[in-house]
Amino acid sequence: MNIVFASHNQHKTEEVRQILGSKWHLRNLHDLGQTEEIPETSDTLQGNALQKAQYVFDKYHVDCFADDTGLEVEALGGAPGVYSARYAGEHCTYADNVNKLLLEMKGKTNRRACFKTVVTLILNGETHYFEGRVDGTIIETPRGTDGFGYDPVFMPDGYTETFAEMSAEEKNKISHRGRAMAKLVEFLG
Ligand code: IMP
Repeated sequence: MNIVFASHNQHKTEEVRQILGSKWHLRNLHDLGQTEEIPETSDTLQGNALQKAQYVFDKYHVDCFADDTGLEVEALGGAPGVYSARYAGEHCTYADNVNKLLLEMKGKTNRRACFKTVVTLILNGETHYFEGRVDGTIIETPRGTDGFGYDPVFMPDGYTETFAEMSAEEKNKISHRGRAMAKLVEFLG
């Protein structure tokens, strides 16, 4: 069965392809020839995930899903949240974002945070949502080289390693995206 992941990210596509298994033939935006970025102008994760999936459905008329993720930090009132990708500015790097976060967190004793992912699926023209969440803390000094984004400063509850110190397999088992995708896969069967 065919399904499209509304993403340009090959790394994420491969991850999802493995989770879905051989029953599903997964294509992403590159495979469709969609080179342009899809607008993400909502101020919620759910809104952005829907916007991306709806764009693909309207343009290509295929079953598809999209994801959106944010890091919510308690002491910062939930920031960077839906703006996690561009926290330090429009064309910033992952390192810029981590540095900005550590600066904002300087001297803060409450270091609780969580990652949230929303996946929106449009199947046979109907919309479904799946959510995944992982709680943890923001550490003071980055550790580890694997992963991406805020991984070097996020330590999930119950672990002494950051996401950037874990193998991809270990991270996927407990991560926000891994959990949301697992729900999608269960639904798809
Ligand atoms: P996206 O919606 O998956 O593109 O995620 C938005 C932003 O959240 C990314 O640019 C990263 O900065 C951050 N992010 C998403 N997932 C992760 C993760 O698994 N680890 C660390 N940072 C992440």
